[in-house]
Amino acid sequence: MTEESDIVSLFNPKSIVVIGASENPAKIGYSIIDNIASGGYSGKVYPVNPKGGYILGYPVYKEIKDIPENEIDIVCISIPANKVFSAVQECTQKKVKFLVIITSGFSEIGNTDEERKIVKLAHKHGMRVLGPNMFGIYTKSVSLNATFGPKNIRPGSVAILTQSGALGIGMIGKTSAMDLGLSTIVSMGNKSDIDETDLLEYLADDPETKVIIMYMEGVKNGTKLINVLKKVTKQKNVIVIKSGRSKRGAMATASHTGSLAGEDAVFDAIMKQCGVIRAETIKEALEWGIWSEFMLSIPLPKGDNSIIITNGGGLGVLATDACEKYQVNLYDDQARMSATFQKAVSSFGSTKNPIDLTGQATAEDYRASISAAINDPNIHAVISLYCETAVFDQDELAKVIEEKYEEACRVQKPIVFSLFGGAKLEKYIKELSAKQIPVFGDVYDAINCLSSLYTLRKNILKDIEKIKEFKFDQNKIDQIVEKARSQNRYFLLTDEAQEVMRIAGITIPHCLIAKNEDEAVKFAEEINYPVVMKVVSKDIIHKSDAGAVKINIKNKEEVIKAYQEIMKNSLIYNKNADITGIEVVEMVKDGTQVIVGARQDQSFNSILMFGMGGIFVEVLKDVVFKALPIGYNEAKEMVMSIKSKAILEGVRGEKPRDIASLVDVLLKVGQILKNSKNITDIEINPVIVYEEGIKAVDVRILLRKN
Ligand code: COA
Repeated sequence: MTEESDIVSLFNPKSIVVIGASENPAKIGYSIIDNIASGGYSGKVYPVNPKGGYILGYPVYKEIKDIPENEIDIVCISIPANKVFSAVQECTQKKVKFLVIITSGFSEIGNTDEERKIVKLAHKHGMRVLGPNMFGIYTKSVSLNATFGPKNIRPGSVAILTQSGALGIGMIGKTSAMDLGLSTIVSMGNKSDIDETDLLEYLADDPETKVIIMYMEGVKNGTKLINVLKKVTKQKNVIVIKSGRSKRGAMATASHTGSLAGEDAVFDAIMKQCGVIRAETIKEALEWGIWSEFMLSIPLPKGDNSIIITNGGGLGVLATDACEKYQVNLYDDQARMSATFQKAVSSFGSTKNPIDLTGQATAEDYRASISAAINDPNIHAVISLYCETAVFDQDELAKVIEEKYEEACRVQKPIVFSLFGGAKLEKYIKELSAKQIPVFGDVYDAINCLSSLYTLRKNILKDIEKIKEFKFDQNKIDQIVEKARSQNRYFLLTDEAQEVMRIAGITIPHCLIAKNEDEAVKFAEEINYPVVMKVVSKDIIHKSDAGAVKINIKNKEEVIKAYQEIMKNSLIYNKNADITGIEVVEMVKDGTQVIVGARQDQSFNSILMFGMGGIFVEVLKDVVFKALPIGYNEAKEMVMSIKSKAILEGVRGEKPRDIASLVDVLLKVGQILKNSKNITDIEINPVIVYEEGIKAVDVRILLRKN
């Protein structure tokens, strides 16, 4: 089979065969030949149709075996679904590298067996499959437009990978209308074989591609996608638009391309973990595409200190808001800024960031202040804003921008401009941006563009962490799990789950299981009052609902009374309940309640969740996710990225919580899940975090069904 590294031939084919080529202009098989011809492809083109003859000047071969060449890079197939398999069989007579199957009517409508049969045959003969159910491929490197979309694709530096064909065709038209140049556009269709990971690996090293935009509906091989994205985002920006955000949207995608949409919050978090920029809309994604053209010319920032220079206070405030939104850090060393801008800013202006040159600012004021920022090594990026005023000689504006842009480039410092005003300014924006100078109409766009440079910088600097394995007895955990499964029980009992925690070295409250009243009293005294008592039964999951939990038990009499009541209530709740005993538990001290969870995810395999816990977890929804495995720094980043992190850091004079121990719990829970093939969910809610240490109070572990 064609190796992954050979995917290069898909983007640089020397020859293309079109099965189902037609001379009927109403047919897709005609459009493909027409697009290939008018796109200026210089390789060999072989239309195939049983009628023979000529299509648009190309001789037509009646059968693939008649083609006077043995090795073919791409065979594009556009014939009805029931004929595709036999056409692929014919392809096996030649040495074909890639099948690009346009035809619909496979897994997207449930015809999965036929799709699998085709891929199996193709693989047996060394062919990789793109599609089926897609519109084709455009690749700038050989000027090949093998799609049935529009003709006029503008060559450029943006790669688009799309799972939806129709949207992709729309994007060809849209990009051309927006003057956005493409290095490639590939429709992935049902992703029966080649998926985004294969294509991303190629595009990461493709010098023609500066930015990659992906439209996705579902994730099939999440772990591979994560690994590839982590590498690609260190080389160039990847922007993802994923549909299925809303519940209704998620249902629509599930039935659209036959793939399953993962939960959006998880997808969103994992894209962030991989350094991907997530676009809300196609418009936003394509705008990033346009800005990527600037990225050919703007250097990456060398540090986090950005400065805003403006002649309008309002515009400055808007820019500050945009910086917060897009996580662009504003320089705040007041003493240094005063020194840097003292000469350039008038006495009634401000040298606080945003640097306010006031409405009286002239071209010379801009020149002086921008130069001051460019020449200050403590400033790493410049955001220059201009609001139209009567005192500024606008004929000078374009000159100032060009001069200062070149000056910034000479010292490898990024600068973006935003102009707000009338027709003349609009004209400058058009003219200057056509020269690849980053000049924007909207201040949010300017800062969003700058933020994508910061994203790339962050991705480049981010170390791929070594994953540390804790030494604990995984075999013992497996034995507990398998014992439960052998009893057709797909969750662990409280004592079993607690044993798993003990094995992993996660502290749990002191607890013992009593089989009778005397034992309960003995254990309560051993643990120390007050204690909590709960039923242990495989038949009673929701213990509180059954009246089988008693708290704050302070003495022997109360233990006996609680024991009797729990037994009575449990049997009223379920008269056949198999009761293992009654758990006597230390009543834990108050602390900060958090939740730690891990589960097997349909799309991304094992994922970890962390957030504020307790009974309000569903209401607060202050949780974050990451795909496993992760190292210490990433786990700590999870803890520090929840909205309520201030509570853990210590508010109102409280001491900070023991974050190191908490991170330890996250990593251990992650390791248990990752290494236990038959545990599907672990949830500890709450984990109580103290100034020193933690306690995993309530542990639930669910198992894989046979
Ligand atoms: N080898 C070569 N040519 C063959 C062939 C074979 N084994 N079998 C049929 N053909 C010829 C046909 O004779 C016809 O040529 P003609 O126009 O000269 O008669 C041509 O191939 C096309 O076949 P036809 O039966 O007319 O099919 P079609 O063009 O109406 O439809 C598809 C074919 C692939 C376009 C259609 O089945 C389909 O899947 N449409 C949806 C495509 C789509 O939306 N994809 C997703 C986009 S995002």
